[in-house]
Amino acid sequence: MEWYVEAGVDVLLEDEPIDRFLEKPPVPRKKATQVASSSTAERLAQKADNSPRPTATIRPQATMPDGAAVEMAKSIASKATTIEALKQALNEFDGCNLKRTAKSLVFADGNPSAKIMLIGEAPDKDEDIHGIPFAGRAGQLLDKQLAAIGLSRETVYITNVIPWRPPGNRTPTPQETEICRPFIERHIELINPDIILMLGGTSAKTLMKTNNGIMQLRGKWSEIRTENLTIKALSTLHPTYLLRQPLHKKLVWQDLLKLKQHLES
Ligand code: URA
Repeated sequence: MEWYVEAGVDVLLEDEPIDRFLEKPPVPRKKATQVASSSTAERLAQKADNSPRPTATIRPQATMPDGAAVEMAKSIASKATTIEALKQALNEFDGCNLKRTAKSLVFADGNPSAKIMLIGEAPDKDEDIHGIPFAGRAGQLLDKQLAAIGLSRETVYITNVIPWRPPGNRTPTPQETEICRPFIERHIELINPDIILMLGGTSAKTLMKTNNGIMQLRGKWSEIRTENLTIKALSTLHPTYLLRQPLHKKLVWQDLLKLKQHLES
């Protein structure tokens, strides 16, 4: 088990194990001409052979092509006129495969009337368990960083680009990010903060639609443009990264001071 967890295999896809050795190999499809010339009896026999065999129940998959999923996400997200409606829309949306393996929808934490919105990458294991963004070690560090400039979860609003935990904490794929983009952009519009603080490269690159790395982007004022809004934004290093590279805390401190100065000006 430990070996699996270290390899990132730390989620169960089914409630029951499936013994793949008991499954028959797939029956090769007959060519159209052969099927057309076979007798009714042969076709019925073939149909019987292809009929579903009893296996463990499999939950419905997100089988929508990515383009269709993005279009559906855009349509659903744009119709949400309140934060609650957006959360409900995400709960009902089945176009993102990450929802299949996640335990919870990790929607947001903090104060929806806050003027500062923090946007991270995606939930990790602790967030998936509790359904709250930045609920684990990275969140504890984030709370300390906020406190250092006189902020807290009561005075900011916190969410992520991706609301479901990618299995094994892998980086979300570009397809997953594009499918979730309409929801985070609508989320921004509904909160309508004065300032957005993007935490980490995935958040900054996705929201600023750039391929530049976080070391180039961090600490510089920029703008995030959604369909209906333009919001002043700053990016900084992700707290999870700082847990591995504590020497870079000084860079984040510089970025936070920049944010503080702006709030006081
Ligand atoms: N990392 C993130 O980007 N977001 C969380 O909520 C937790 C860890």
